[in-house]
Formats: sequence, structure tokens, C-alpha cells
Amino acid sequence: MKGLILSGGAGTRLRPITHTAAKQLVPVANKPVLFYGLEAMRAAGIDEVGIVVGDTRAEIEAAVGDGSAFDLAVTYLPQDAPRGLAHAVLISEGFLGDEPFVMYLGDNLLKEGIQPFVRAFEATGPDALILLQKVADPQSYGIAELDGDGCVSRLVEKPAEPRSDLALVGVYLFTPAVFESVKAIEPSARGELEITDAIQHMVDRGLRVEPHVVTGWWKDTGKLEDMLEANRLVLSTLVRDVQGDLHETTIEGPVVVGPGSRLERCTVRGPVVIGAGCRLSDTFVGPYTSLSDGVVVDHAEIEHSIVLENSRISHLSTRMSDSLIGRDCVIAHSDARPVAYRFLVGDSCQIGIL
Ligand code: TTP
Repeated sequence: MKGLILSGGAGTRLRPITHTAAKQLVPVANKPVLFYGLEAMRAAGIDEVGIVVGDTRAEIEAAVGDGSAFDLAVTYLPQDAPRGLAHAVLISEGFLGDEPFVMYLGDNLLKEGIQPFVRAFEATGPDALILLQKVADPQSYGIAELDGDGCVSRLVEKPAEPRSDLALVGVYLFTPAVFESVKAIEPSARGELEITDAIQHMVDRGLRVEPHVVTGWWKDTGKLEDMLEANRLVLSTLVRDVQGDLHETTIEGPVVVGPGSRLERCTVRGPVVIGAGCRLSDTFVGPYTSLSDGVVVDHAEIEHSIVLENSRISHLSTRMSDSLIGRDCVIAHSDARPVAYRFLVGDSCQIGIL
């Protein structure tokens, strides 16, 4: 069995981060989201993975390389534009050949990995197996309806009057029978080849599409709130590992501090992960915070946030929370006159002020 990870896409919901970076490389608990998918593939016994890439190909390639760091052989599959999940399958036919494969959305995270689903697929041998999870608001998801035999009978995108509360999770297992369907379907109203249409086409051809309900958590990190929630869920399993230098600093609960970091007069209340080479002073870091390498924080309080490499947060009069800060950003108090907020802010940013 081969793996197919989708790491192209536009990432419009995660702007401005995605103006300058691939959303699949945004770190959750200081590890790029995409790496969790690659590790899940390896853990399921898959050794050959194709990664569908778009505009951010260079960045993804720089991070993953030939895959050997993950004990995988990785092939890059360029997609000319984000033409849909089924289009990504279509362009990957040459790589996938006549083997069954697991398709994994590169911005998704699953607590239990994919091993149980790969085993279920191998055991029962359906034409496709889709992962589902019960959700409270089925109107917001692609939803699967099941027939009396427990097989998938219908897929509906964001139904106004849902007949099921089983949402599609971003992992699918297919036999090569899927190729006939991705070639047969037409682009949807939003101009994309939809994977739901391809799966519906398989059902309509009389093929067996089995559901598998996921019980552990699953997160699609495509939006800010979900990214923070994924960070919270992963950090919940953190194990304490404090390196670096601590001076007059209190560490509570599961906290990771990377090598070369220096904390002075700080309180860190886990779960918190602090990368390498960070400088923190006179600062409180609260639960569910991930600070990437080289972050500097002084005279500030920060919690439930993700801060990327080399950003600086300084002299805040109010605690910073629920935030995702990109790389090389500066958020600092200023004594300059006139007293005013001063911003240099890129496109599609969101700033909440008192
Ligand atoms: P989505 O999150 O559905 O789409 P997107 O990345 O374009 O984001 P947005 O809706 O915010 O604009 O994509 C799920 C995953 O699949 C993600 O990792 C990107 C990837 N993808 C492709 O590789 N090719 C595609 O054509 C599409 C639509 C997505």
C-alpha cells in the first residue's frame, strides 16, 4: 500500500500565515502538522509516499527532503493549481499505479494515527474505506449517510437538513477503482473536482464503500481556532523535558524547554513547549502555548498561543491569548509620542485590541 499526502491547496482560511508559508508546515507543539501525517504513514507500515504540492513546493521539499528522516521514500507530485482533492488523486495515478493507497489531507491530525484503518481495509477488502466522525453540527461538514448494511449510500456536502451526523474525516483508503470515478466527475459549483463526488460515483457504480467511525480526536487545522485546538490536544500529552538555563524561574506541570534557551524571572505553567535558543525574562507563559526556536519574550504574559520562529513579544500590559504569531514578528510596547497604536500589518491579518 502507498500513501498520498495532499500538501497543495490555497490555505485562504489561514491567511496571513499562508501568504508566506505552507499551512502544512505550521507547527503544532513545535512540530509541523505535515510531519504527524508522515509519521502516521510510517507507523501504519507504509514506506512509499507521494506528496501533492502546489505553490509552496520548495518549502515542503526543504522540510521533508527525500523522506529518509521519516524512514519513507517520498515522491513530489506537482499540481498546477488547487483544482480539488479528486484532482490531486487524478494527477497522482502514475505514482500510485495499481496499488491501493491511503489518501491523507496534509493539514489534518488524528489522535489514533491511521494504522487501525489500514488494517480494517486490508481485512475486509472494500473498494474504498472512508473515515467518519460524529459531529454536533453536521451542516458544516461533508456528511455520509449509511444504508441498512452499514455501507455508505450517499455523501452530502454541508446539508441544510442532515440525515446523518457522520462527518468525513480527511483520510480515505482507495483501491485503483477510484481512478475511473475521478475521471468521470465534473468540477463542482466552486470549480473543484470534489472527492465526495468521486466517492458518490463509486457508490453509484455499485462498488463497496465502507465507513469506519473514528473515536479519538481528529482536527483539520485549516483555520486559526482549529490550529490552536490541535496544539492544545497534542500538548495535553506532553512529557516534561527541561533543558536550557533557568534563573529564578518556576516551572509547573509538563513543560519542554529546548537547548540553548534562557529563562529569567519567569513562571511557566504547562503544558508548554519552548523551542531552542529562546530568551524569556520577567514573563508568564500559561498553558497550551508553543514557542518556536529563537522566540524572545520579556515583561509579558502569554497563554493558549503559538508563536513561530524568531518573533519578539515585549512589555505587554495585557495577557496575550488565543493567538497565532508568524515568524520574525515584533509585538512590543512603545514609549514614542504621540501615544498611539502603531502597526505595520500585512494583508488578511486580525488584531484584537482593548
Ligand atoms: P482544504 O483545506 O480543503 O483547501 P485549501 O488548502 O485550499 O484551504 P482553504 O479552503 O482555506 O483555501 O485542503 C485540504 C488539504 O488538501 C490541504 O492540505 C491542502 C490540500 N489540497 C491539495 O493538495 N490540492 C487541492 O487541490 C486542494 C483543494 C487541497
